[in-house]
Amino acid sequence: MTTDSEPAVRSKLLESFATVFPDAKERSLRVFRAPGRVNLIGEHTDYNDGFVMPMAIDFEVRSLCETNRSGKLFVHSIQQQQTVDFTLDETTPAARGDWSDYVRGVQLQLSSGGLHLSGVSLLIDGQVPIGAGLSSSAALEIVVALALLDAMHAEMDRTTLARLCQRAENEFVGARCGIMDQFASANSKAGHAMLLDCRSLQATYVPVPEHVALVICNTMVKHSVATGEYNQRRGECEECVRYFQRFLPHVSSLRDITEEDFRELGTGLPMVLSRRAKHVISENLRVLQAGQALREGDLQTLGKLMYSSHASLRDDFQVSCPELDLLVELARRFPGVYGSRMTGGGFGGCTVNLVEKTASAQFVNYMARSYYEKTGMQPDIYVTTAADGAGPIDNSQANLRRCTESKALS
Ligand code: GLA
Repeated sequence: MTTDSEPAVRSKLLESFATVFPDAKERSLRVFRAPGRVNLIGEHTDYNDGFVMPMAIDFEVRSLCETNRSGKLFVHSIQQQQTVDFTLDETTPAARGDWSDYVRGVQLQLSSGGLHLSGVSLLIDGQVPIGAGLSSSAALEIVVALALLDAMHAEMDRTTLARLCQRAENEFVGARCGIMDQFASANSKAGHAMLLDCRSLQATYVPVPEHVALVICNTMVKHSVATGEYNQRRGECEECVRYFQRFLPHVSSLRDITEEDFRELGTGLPMVLSRRAKHVISENLRVLQAGQALREGDLQTLGKLMYSSHASLRDDFQVSCPELDLLVELARRFPGVYGSRMTGGGFGGCTVNLVEKTASAQFVNYMARSYYEKTGMQPDIYVTTAADGAGPIDNSQANLRRCTESKALS
């Protein structure tokens, strides 16, 4: 969680930069941040051109870099305690299968758009829990893109930025994710949920009432099926689209199928595909209803929609797991909870819970105790607020030498 002040965060990072890259020249460096996200409702709808309602959270990835003439990209991750280097003009760059692929993927996308580097040293400080479904990878992509763009004195609008980072993940890392995570990390607004139309990429911001807390409960499990099953679900949705196109040529994604179309035509789909389509079609409607409920401050309705979303993900899209189901059932029994559901891709990771603020401390204790009693695992639990999207940390320029000197003096 972000607890340090911005100047403190910046000077700590400048110190680390000088330690990891002792050859760094004296010059001003800007530090960037990009947050993880939690999705309130609208799961597995983004890659079906549908609707989602995420918000950025208080966990973020930070980065700063300095350009040079080394012909290489050096990247150091504080969390991984590892430096990796890549030759920038390599003709057939291959993924390494680790965290650095997100960095390399973004740099390659920038380069294919004509933004070439002559050499760069990059420092990463990732605070978003990894593998928890809170978009640590999208935050990493966005922050790296911002730092590299700044180093090249280039600008990019936030929609193009989100798309570029999504392509890096689709094409270089090999995960066929949708646009939600990158878009939320780049464009969120503090105190608001973002209702995003993933077809037009139009976002509207809905205030989150001050009297509710968003509590994220981590199952502490990530089932190994996650990536394979995710890509398989995308394939199944594409199969559904091909089926409906036989009757409705205007259809280009599941977003275009109405409930009536599904009732009339869906009976010809194999059972598994029919369930997948049912989830996406009903989830899109739930997101729109949830947006309306949040606008009206009707948290009872919003909560019910969250529970229905979870049931649909569990029974029809089949991306939940016993640990997520347990967390949702435990939350349902606690007074002061409006709604609870899995958030993110599924197969482990976290639930998001909408809880009356006055009940949130007791809720945290109750969830920690009850989950431990049933599973023997201590869940990580975070009470979070809707944060701002990515940007520079403290707009003023920071001076590397001054910072290292003051350290020497103290
Ligand atoms: C992951 C993907 C997103 C989205 C969710 C499921 O987080 O990165 O694009 O598809 O799963 O809603």
